[in-house]
Amino acid sequence: MKKFEFNTANKKKYQELLTHYDDIQSALMPVLHLAQEQHSWLSPEVVAHISELMGIPEIKINEVISFYDMFYDHPTARNVVQVCTNITCSMFGGREIHKGILDHFQLHNMRPSQDGKLYIQKMECLGACEMAPCMRINNIYEGHLTLKTAVQKLEVLP
Ligand code: FES
Repeated sequence: MKKFEFNTANKKKYQELLTHYDDIQSALMPVLHLAQEQHSWLSPEVVAHISELMGIPEIKINEVISFYDMFYDHPTARNVVQVCTNITCSMFGGREIHKGILDHFQLHNMRPSQDGKLYIQKMECLGACEMAPCMRINNIYEGHLTLKTAVQKLEVLP
């Protein structure tokens, strides 16, 4: 198993994060976000490292990862794209946009593209209903989409 550890910048961020919490366990979610930012998904090596670092059993960490949609226990891609298909976005075409994106790029939901560029994920409400229909590309919101503008935004990604 290839070992994971935080890079120098993230080691500092990790230490800084811990100062915000009374006990180390409470820092788990932000630490997982930090690890996912660095590694793009929370692989068994990442979980093993965090478990050792924070003294939290791997099984507990895996429970948290599997509970939340924003944590990935499988490989993603350079660009993680979350497309909202909840009620408000659906009223404005969110489901069609999600399906249209998958069809256009010939992808499956939650499976990375072969070139490692795109990972498309159907999501429940992203908390930005005023921008419906919307999606989040690497945590940046894009709203008032049509299928055409959504595809254009994804085509120009690195
Ligand atoms: S329903 Fe799509 S952001 Fe709320």
